[in-house]
Amino acid sequence: MNIVILAAGQGKRMKSALPKVLQTLAGKPLLQHVLITALSLQGKQTKAGPIVVIGHGAANVKAFLANVAKEDPSFGNVATVLQAEQKGTGHALLQALPKLDPQEPTLVLYGDVPLTSKKTLAKLSKLADGVRGQDSALALLTQNLANPSGYGRIVRDADGSVREIVEEKDATPVQKAIKEINTGIMVLPTNSLRKWLKALRASNAQGEYYLTDVIAMAVKDGVPIRTTQADDEFETVGVNSRDQLAGLERIHQLNVAHQLMAAGVSLADPSRIDVRGTLECGTDVSIDVGCVFEGCVTLASGTKVGPYCVIRNSEIGNDVAIHAFSHLDGAKVGHHSLIGPYARLRPGADLANDVHIGNFVEVKNSKIAANSKANHLAYVGDSIVGSRVNIGAGTITCNYDGVNKHQTIIEDDVFIGSDTQLVAPVRVGRGATLGAGTTLTKDAPANQLTVSRAKQISLPWQRPVKIEKKIAVKKTAANKVTAKKTAIKKSVTKSVKGKK
Ligand code: UD1
Ligand code: MG
Repeated sequence: MNIVILAAGQGKRMKSALPKVLQTLAGKPLLQHVLITALSLQGKQTKAGPIVVIGHGAANVKAFLANVAKEDPSFGNVATVLQAEQKGTGHALLQALPKLDPQEPTLVLYGDVPLTSKKTLAKLSKLADGVRGQDSALALLTQNLANPSGYGRIVRDADGSVREIVEEKDATPVQKAIKEINTGIMVLPTNSLRKWLKALRASNAQGEYYLTDVIAMAVKDGVPIRTTQADDEFETVGVNSRDQLAGLERIHQLNVAHQLMAAGVSLADPSRIDVRGTLECGTDVSIDVGCVFEGCVTLASGTKVGPYCVIRNSEIGNDVAIHAFSHLDGAKVGHHSLIGPYARLRPGADLANDVHIGNFVEVKNSKIAANSKANHLAYVGDSIVGSRVNIGAGTITCNYDGVNKHQTIIEDDVFIGSDTQLVAPVRVGRGATLGAGTTLTKDAPANQLTVSRAKQISLPWQRPVKIEKKIAVKKTAANKVTAKKTAIKKSVTKSVKGKK
């Protein structure tokens, strides 16, 4: 099957510098959603990939496609054709014509209709099925809407067969009352399509080459027209404004929330979760309100995520508690660990089982072995931390000398007192204790107390007494008047005194 995605339009109503199809839904550009579905439909046997008709912001769209192809090689199969001037949907499809295999039917999708399911499209393409190489039926995806305004209407004959599609701006009042609309998604017999597209005329209210005009041509040529509808209305909703984008995002997130709950996840409020990627959960996972999941996240069975956490590309073990306001990115967390509240795990944070990372603790590119703890206010970066290590409040691994990063190694059973700085590269031997306030610049031997601290002294001391300050008066206009009056008074008193 040929697949053409129309994506050349500007999307004026978005009022954005970005082409509309690059606006994001669930963290991904609208066009990427459409392409993922298109690629899943084509299967491996298709030589040519989907064709995207680009126009407005073409360079941006091309750069985006090149970028995703780096991460996902299947996108390398996506071709683009340029529609330099946007003269309508029929004109857009005409640009892709030379790239279409005439032996295969052509599925038309819109770059701004992101959530059509594979199931719906498979059903539509089956409807158009015929003998390979021969033109068969034309299949239209329609929708019955309570408020059909703005859409093309499906006009049927008395016997129910489709006669034509009339655009809103060209419709008579009777046609405007029709509730069945054209979603724009259709499967067309490619051989006939070639002929029909060339015969299109722009003699309509918008002066555009309407793809929808091919329907009446198909009727004339005796090509059967079949219609079907999606299970859910949101599947055919297009995005024209930021308002619609936000609306569709909520619909999508609510769907994801219901899928999670159906799979055994407890959500404190299904309307307050955002999954921008894939979230895989074991059984009895619970997620509190306001959490955002990005990229690929897995939460194994029994794990609990507190309110307002952001978790990106991370793998969390069984029965982990992630408390409120924690931020995890590129982290691995072992079973039974406790994270947060207000913890930050950055890329390369690799925690074994039963590790505790408490409030205002940041861990980056560090391996922390089982049963170790950093419960308060610490920075652990570029480190290897052994088992049963206790990292006291205020401990900092000074990993950066302003030019290079260096490693800190903390062996098993180490106890690090509060407010300690470990100036990397440095190693703390097994079982060592570092006294509070130590600035460690050399390796600390195993099983000893190492402390770097000025000796504590006590001296007799008299605390100074506070000196009262004179209040300086600013010379404002009012002050000047008072000063003048006082001067006059003084001179009068003087002269009176002189008279005496
Ligand atoms: C179109 C349909 C209408 C349908 C509606 C569904 C036509 C004539 N009308 O109207 O029947 O109910 O979609 O949403 O087809 N595009 C291009 N190049 C162009 C024009 C459009 O690539 O020259 C692309 C747009 O980027 C968009 C899609 O085609 O992805 C639809 O274009 P749009 O202008 O939104 O068509 P509608 O007027 O909404
Ligand atoms: Mg539209």
